[in-house]
Amino acid sequence: MKEQVFVKTANVDNATKAIMKLLARPINEMVGLGMIYGDPGLGKSRFAKQMCYRKGYLYIRLEASETAKSFSQKLWRGLKYQLNLTSEPTNEMGNAPGGSTNSLVNLCIRILMDAPHSVIMIDEFDNALPNRELRETIRDIVDQTFATVILIGMSGVRDKLERTNPHFFDRSNFFCEFNSLSVEDVTEICKKVCEFELSPKLIETAHKASAGQFRKLIKTLMLFEDKIRNKRAVTLTAKDMKEIENAGDKGSK
Ligand SMILES: Nc1ncnc2c1ncn2[C@@H]1O[C@H](COP(=O)(O)OP(=O)(O)OP(=O)(O)O)[C@@H](O)[C@H]1O
Ligand SMILES: [Mg+2]
Repeated sequence: MKEQVFVKTANVDNATKAIMKLLARPINEMVGLGMIYGDPGLGKSRFAKQMCYRKGYLYIRLEASETAKSFSQKLWRGLKYQLNLTSEPTNEMGNAPGGSTNSLVNLCIRILMDAPHSVIMIDEFDNALPNRELRETIRDIVDQTFATVILIGMSGVRDKLERTNPHFFDRSNFFCEFNSLSVEDVTEICKKVCEFELSPKLIETAHKASAGQFRKLIKTLMLFEDKIRNKRAVTLTAKDMKEIENAGDKGSK
């Protein structure tokens, strides 16, 4: 299996277009908020990290225990590094200056006002839903700066946000759902990541066994490769299917 390969699936293509459209908005008229959501293991985090790496966007992953304070410290650190703000004050450890959450959020807002083209991708946004202060902090950043903020979450996050936070929901200028991988996607992935050329029939088997989910597909292809390498029949046993199923449970969380 070839590592570090990034495949341009239909999801990647749609999400890239949605972000480009948001970036081309009239920034004085429209807030820069978008949301990417979908079932586990479809490649949302990988897409976000790849975009951030390639385009110089800021990637922030919300932990389950994230607070408004810890988020604003992460944001401050990320902005300082990304924008190379050597003159920004730090504490004696080189971290965000002390003070209240509010003063740190305002510091981030001031930095972002000077960098209106900043793009921040916030992964695992579901973790912000139970925390009002954290949610409102993210909303303040969206409302009070020209930065573009892309929220990334699980499939239910869009509906939950609409139900519980309509003010936040209404601000979003795009919603992009990551769908299950198509046979065409799987064909392209096999071409890019497999060390062996797979027949259309095997590709179809891999598509079915993985239920169009990236994490399960990688596991399926690893099993195929192992069998090919060891000159065994490339069929999926009940034990293999169980292994593939379990691969889907192992999130990047
Ligand atoms: N476009 C891609 N090219 C190559 N590999 C990918 C791509 N997208 C995802 N993968 C691989 O598939 C696996 C699952 O992807 P990822 O963790 O991004 O899914 P996710 O949608 O964020 O899942 P979750 O909802 O559980 O957080 C990872 O091992 C990742 O490296
Ligand atoms: Mg993820």
